[in-house]
Amino acid sequence: MSVTLDAVPWPVYTPRCVLRRPTSADAQAVWAYRRLPEASQWMTSLVNDEEAFVEGFPTPAQMSSMIIVESGGAVVGDLRVTIEDGWGQTEVVDRARSTEAEVGWVFDPAHQGKGLASGAASRMLDLCFDDLGLRRVTAGCFADNKPSWRMMDRLGLRCEGAFTADSLHRDGRWLDSYSYAILREEWAALREERVGRSGWNTDRTVSGQKPE
Ligand SMILES: CC(C)(COP(=O)(O)OP(=O)(O)OC[C@H]1O[C@@H](n2cnc3c(N)ncnc32)[C@H](O)[C@@H]1OP(=O)(O)O)[C@@H](O)C(=O)NCCC(=O)NCCS
Repeated sequence: MSVTLDAVPWPVYTPRCVLRRPTSADAQAVWAYRRLPEASQWMTSLVNDEEAFVEGFPTPAQMSSMIIVESGGAVVGDLRVTIEDGWGQTEVVDRARSTEAEVGWVFDPAHQGKGLASGAASRMLDLCFDDLGLRRVTAGCFADNKPSWRMMDRLGLRCEGAFTADSLHRDGRWLDSYSYAILREEWAALREERVGRSGWNTDRTVSGQKPE
């Protein structure tokens, strides 16, 4: 059975953000931060042609995986949920289809450092497990991308792998990377624990502390 983001009753709200699907009207706003070196230095692909970006937005891939994050009426960033098949032995592989997602995030530098990204990503994890019924969510980053792995630590994802010089940056260097994941039951347990804990703000982000 295929699972898509259409299973979510959009738009979805957090106390500070609105999460919704992209439309062609978002093209310019998304371009405005994605073109910036601070936003793009660790991203898989550079965007450097404004006309092509704006005209093509949202691409079929963006239509199937992108979530726009708005705060205070402005687009402040976007999230990605790429639904994937889990691995399984031949006899049971059908049961592994569409059971995982790889997630990602990019926020306007002007809206970083406020907890908006982890608040929105936290809500995205709720959607992955509650609305899409996934069993595992994964994410990866360059080891030098400290803001990204700090956010994954804050959210409670588990670092499952640290790889040495396995990822080629566009500047020509082979860099280290990290691989993170969380299971549905782990997210449910974290959520329960945090709801009753002081320091877990209304966007469900931890105030700067790594969950124990
Ligand atoms: C990765 C990225 C989304 C993280 O954004 P961010 O704003 O740093 O993340 P958060 O929303 O978790 O904010 C945390 C920061 O806000 C601060 N903060 C302020 N108010 C806060 C609140 N109410 N709740 C939580 N944190 C708050 C925290 O102290 C923390 O600052 P610190 O890192 O200096 O300690 C962002 O750096 C980004 O878009 N990078 C470019 C794209 C990219 O690299 N994507 C990932 C590719 S793998």
